[in-house]
Amino acid sequence: MSRNAKAALCREHNKPVVVETVTVDPPKRGEATVRLGACGVCHSDLSAITGTIALPLPLVLGHEGAGIVEEVGEGVGGLAKGDHVIFSFIYMCGKCRFCVAGRPVLCLEQGKALTTPLEGTPRVRDARGAPLSIFSGCGAMAEYATVSAENLIRIDPKIPLDCAALVGCGVTTGVGAVFNTAKVQPGSSVAVFGCGGVGLSVVQGARIAGAERIIAIDTLQAKLDMAKKFGATETVLTEKEDVVKFLKKTTSGGPDYAFECVGSGELAGAAYRAIRRGGLAVVVGVAKPSDSTAVRTMTLPFEEKTLTGSYFGSCVPRVDFPRMLALYMAGRLKLEELITQRYPIDEAPRAFADMEAGKNARGVIVFQ
Ligand SMILES: NC(=O)c1ccc[n+]([C@@H]2O[C@H](COP(=O)([O-])OP(=O)(O)OC[C@H]3O[C@@H](n4cnc5c(N)ncnc54)[C@H](O)[C@@H]3O)[C@@H](O)[C@H]2O)c1
Ligand SMILES: [Zn+2]
Ligand SMILES: [Zn+2]
Repeated sequence: MSRNAKAALCREHNKPVVVETVTVDPPKRGEATVRLGACGVCHSDLSAITGTIALPLPLVLGHEGAGIVEEVGEGVGGLAKGDHVIFSFIYMCGKCRFCVAGRPVLCLEQGKALTTPLEGTPRVRDARGAPLSIFSGCGAMAEYATVSAENLIRIDPKIPLDCAALVGCGVTTGVGAVFNTAKVQPGSSVAVFGCGGVGLSVVQGARIAGAERIIAIDTLQAKLDMAKKFGATETVLTEKEDVVKFLKKTTSGGPDYAFECVGSGELAGAAYRAIRRGGLAVVVGVAKPSDSTAVRTMTLPFEEKTLTGSYFGSCVPRVDFPRMLALYMAGRLKLEELITQRYPIDEAPRAFADMEAGKNARGVIVFQ
């Protein structure tokens, strides 16, 4: 049975999102239809609107989703109607050397099932019957979504769906960058550039990992106030300070780790310059394709510094989503507190405007 669903779409680059009633087809083999409970608004959705992340339009936005399985297609094991699930926005073939080595974010088949389910044909159509792409195998900013079953991770139904949704991107990206990519050590010093949903998750990941000093950096004071609530020990308002200089001075030579959570080649360079000898700078933000980062080459041998990146917190969704939720259940990972505002799907355009204005830690679209 096809279902009508309100969905937030990007039809044209750099234009406000539009909310339309679309038709979501039932699942084919290996797929499932989910009734969404909540979908977070991530900066990467905005990057699809600006074209920084190039996906074909028109596009159903949303990849930070959680909901309840409504229908499963043939051949889907381990998932049944009524199961609560979080969306995962990466395709994992399960067979390539990276998947087999436990590094599915590097899957060689990445790019498959990107704008449709794996089978390759669209499941969503607009009112005129024209096919719509979905964001990174998800298209979760809609009342219903039909996706490949591999993109769904079953969770404990006790977890509120709005909190669960955040684990589908921002939280796992930020906390995973700390735990999996950087492996932050207890007692260390960490600088975090950008305190949106991702950066705040780095802040709290660093707190959980036992970092002694967590220095949060943003252009907005309100974001720095939020960062304090998630565990930042110090804050820097960038407009006011030369951040690299300040970091070097306050940590006697630079922090052990720096995380870029904005999406700027220049800030990635600043993160690298800031870290101490032998330190690690991790680029989490997704910069424009035209951006690049200059590194003074000599510092590589003489200072043994490392500049690396982190995609989706270098996570294994089936391992890391339950890990995040266990920390949440234990009261150590704040999810509820990350949700600044909830919006009905009709107000998706306002949710994006509020994110651009820097009003939210995370804005979340909630469904009836
Ligand atoms: N690597 C991944 O897998 C992954 C996953 C999700 C998101 N991302 C990317 O991470 C970035 C952050 O996402 P988000 O959802 O947290 O975004 P967001 O818009 O919620 O937050 C960005 C923050 O950066 C701050 N900022 C802007 N310019 C700054 C500057 N010059 N110096 C310091 N702070 C500055 C803003 O005030 C805001 O608080 C985006 O580029 C997004 O695409 C990457
Ligand atoms: Zn693979
Ligand atoms: Zn995201």
